[in-house]
Amino acid sequence: MSRGNGVLLAIVILIALIAIAAGSVLHDGVSSRAKPTALETMMAREIRHMAIPARARSTQNSAAETQESLRDARLHFADHCAICHANDGSGDTPIGRNLYPKPPDLRRDETQKLADGELFWIIENGVRFTGMPAFGGAHGSEQDSWKLVRFIRHLPQLTGEERMEMERYNPKGPEDLEEEQEENNFLRGAPVQQKPEGAHPH
Ligand code: HEC
Repeated sequence: MSRGNGVLLAIVILIALIAIAAGSVLHDGVSSRAKPTALETMMAREIRHMAIPARARSTQNSAAETQESLRDARLHFADHCAICHANDGSGDTPIGRNLYPKPPDLRRDETQKLADGELFWIIENGVRFTGMPAFGGAHGSEQDSWKLVRFIRHLPQLTGEERMEMERYNPKGPEDLEEEQEENNFLRGAPVQQKPEGAHPH
């Protein structure tokens, strides 16, 4: 890119960012519960696309497409990504629904049309000013990220069985663990433990 073009691009990005910020604050204050307008989403995606180096976007996926690597990625996704993106990639989770911008439905064309290299770059580097964290940097993480790209391609065909397996790998809080323990006790025929009188209702 020549210097002139670089400066022009920087100016265009700056004006777009100011327009987005002004537009969104005027639209809904600073609450993250608001839904970005279609124009804002389109511009933010375009700027993100321009900001990802072309060489990175055209990099080919180096992870083998085997059942084993798909399963690795599925469980990894359940553990690290599903809290925002949901096991099925819809983004329909209490956190996903309330972020600004929201995680998009990864099964849809908007995501599926992005190049493997672009998905990989986003997973490794994250997206500034959004909830999307960078997962790169850890030893061996590049292969994990490439496998995750394969899994994202598989999301539109995710089976019910695969989803059920993922649920076992979703991070669990104390309430989920308690529920799981009660289920196990019930299945083993152990007496159901009564909650102490006056216990907090949730
Ligand atoms: C804390 C919430 C959060 C977590 C955890 C998270 N993401 Fe995201 N992700 C987001 C948000 C928000 C976006 C939207 C970013 C944007 O608008 O540019 C996003 C965007 C993406 C995109 C780009 C999709 C598109 O079409 O724009 C990919 C791919 C992605 N995430 C993959 C992952 C993977 C894989 C993981 C786990 C390793 C993960 N994310 C974990 C919140 C999260």
